[in-house]
Amino acid sequence: MRGLFIKTYGCQANVYDSERMRDVLAPLGYAPVEAPEAADLVILNTCHIREKATEKVFSELGRLKELKQATGGAMRIAVAGCVAQAEGEEIMRRQPAVDMVVGPQAYHRLPEMIARLSRQTGDALDVDFAAEEKFDALPTSRELSGPSAFLAVQEGCDKFCTFCVVPYTRGAEFSRSADAIMAEARELASKGAKEIVLIGQNVNAWHGAAPASQHGGGAWRLGDLIRCVARLGFARIRYTTSHPRDMGDDLIAAHADNPKLMPYLHLPVQSGSDTVLEAMNRQHTGDDYRRLVERIRKSRPDIAMTSDFIVGFPGESDTDFDATMQLVRDIGYATAFSFKYSKRPGTPASTMRKQVAEDVKAARLDALQKLLLSQQYAFDDSQIGKIMPVLFEKVAREEGQIMGRTPYLQPVHVKTDAALIGQVASVKIEKRTANSLHGVLA
Ligand code: 5AD
Ligand code: SF4
Repeated sequence: MRGLFIKTYGCQANVYDSERMRDVLAPLGYAPVEAPEAADLVILNTCHIREKATEKVFSELGRLKELKQATGGAMRIAVAGCVAQAEGEEIMRRQPAVDMVVGPQAYHRLPEMIARLSRQTGDALDVDFAAEEKFDALPTSRELSGPSAFLAVQEGCDKFCTFCVVPYTRGAEFSRSADAIMAEARELASKGAKEIVLIGQNVNAWHGAAPASQHGGGAWRLGDLIRCVARLGFARIRYTTSHPRDMGDDLIAAHADNPKLMPYLHLPVQSGSDTVLEAMNRQHTGDDYRRLVERIRKSRPDIAMTSDFIVGFPGESDTDFDATMQLVRDIGYATAFSFKYSKRPGTPASTMRKQVAEDVKAARLDALQKLLLSQQYAFDDSQIGKIMPVLFEKVAREEGQIMGRTPYLQPVHVKTDAALIGQVASVKIEKRTANSLHGVLA
C-alpha cells in the first residue's frame, strides 16, 4: 500500500475530480491517508480563479518541499487542477520539488505519468485538452464519500466573461452524454447515495441527445436530465453553477414539478450595474436578472436564491456599486459569495484601464458583505420554529452532534444518534448561531 494525500482547493469540479483521481490511482495500490507526512504521493488539486487561490498553492508547495526533503526525496508531488493548466511550465521552473503537473483533462493518464516518473523517463507535464477522452477513460466505479454525491455533467465554458479564467483553464463547453451521466447516476444510486448534485462550470448549458432507452428521443436540456435522474430513487437533487442566460423554461418548470429538486438556486449575477455587466461581457442586464428571478419564484415561490458578486471591476464607479447594492435589496438572497476583483493573467479585464484602488475595493466589499450577511441572518431566522426535512451528512465537530442540511442547504446541528447519517429526518429548528441552525428531532 502506498499513501495518497490529495488537497483540494476551489470549486465542486475539483472536489469531484479529486475523488476520480483517488479512484484512478486505487488499482496502483494508492490508498488515502490523513496527512501529507504519511503520503508517498501528494496531489494539490488547485484553483486559479482568483489571485489569492493561486498564491495559496505556491505557499503550500513551499511547505511540501521541506517535507519532501525530510523524506530524502522519496515523496512525489503532483500539481493538478487549474493552476497546473494555466501555469504548468512556470510551476516546474519555480518549484523543482514538483514531480508532475497534470491539467484537468489529463487525470486519466495519471497512472501512466506515475509509471514513467518511476522509470525517470518521459514527460511529467500533461495539460492537453480533451474533456471527452477524460470522462470516457476514468474508471466507472465510484466510491461514495458521503450521502451526497457530485456528478459532473458538463465541463468548461464558452461565455468568456472578461474577468474569468475558466474558459482558458477548463476549456470549451463540453456536455457529457446523457447515457454516460445516467450510467454514473445509476451506480451512485445503487451504492446508496441519497442526494445527487449535478455539477459543471456552466451546468445549465448542459445539452445532449436523449438516451437511447427513452421513447421520443430528441434533444435534451438540463430539466429533462433532472426528471430522468429523479426516477432513480435519490431523495434530493441539486445542480450548480448556473448562468442567467441558460436558465431555460424547462429547468424553471422542473422546480415546480419535481419535489426532489431542492428549492435552491445558485445564480451568479456578479454586478447590478448595466455598464459593468456589459464590460464583464455577461450578456444580461440587471433587469433581465430581476425578471428571471421573478419567473423562477413564480415556479417555486420558496426558492432560496444565492449568487456571486465581484466588487471593484475595472471602471466600477460609486453609482455602479450602488446599483449592485440595490439589486441585492431587490432580490433578497439566502446567502452569497462576494469577492474583490482580482486580475487574472490572460483575461481581457486584466489590461483594462481604470483599475479600482485597493482601499475602494475593500470598502465596497465590506458594505456588500454586511448587507448580504443581514439577508442571510434574516433568511435563517425565518426558519426558527419550523419543522424541516434534514438530510444528515456527517458527525459534527461538537461531541454527540451530527450535521445535516435543510432543503435550502442551510447547515443544521442536532444532538442525536449518528445512525441517522445518510437519512432524511424531520427537525424542529430552535436557534441560529453565526454559521449554523440548531434543532431537535421532531
Ligand atoms: N476576480 C474576482 N472574482 C472572480 N471570480 C471569477 N473570476 C474572478 C476574478 N478575476 C468570481 C466570480 C465567479 C466566482 C466563482 O469567482 O464571482 O462567479
Ligand atoms: Fe467564468 Fe463567466 Fe464562464 Fe462563469 S460564465 S465560468 S464567470 S466565463
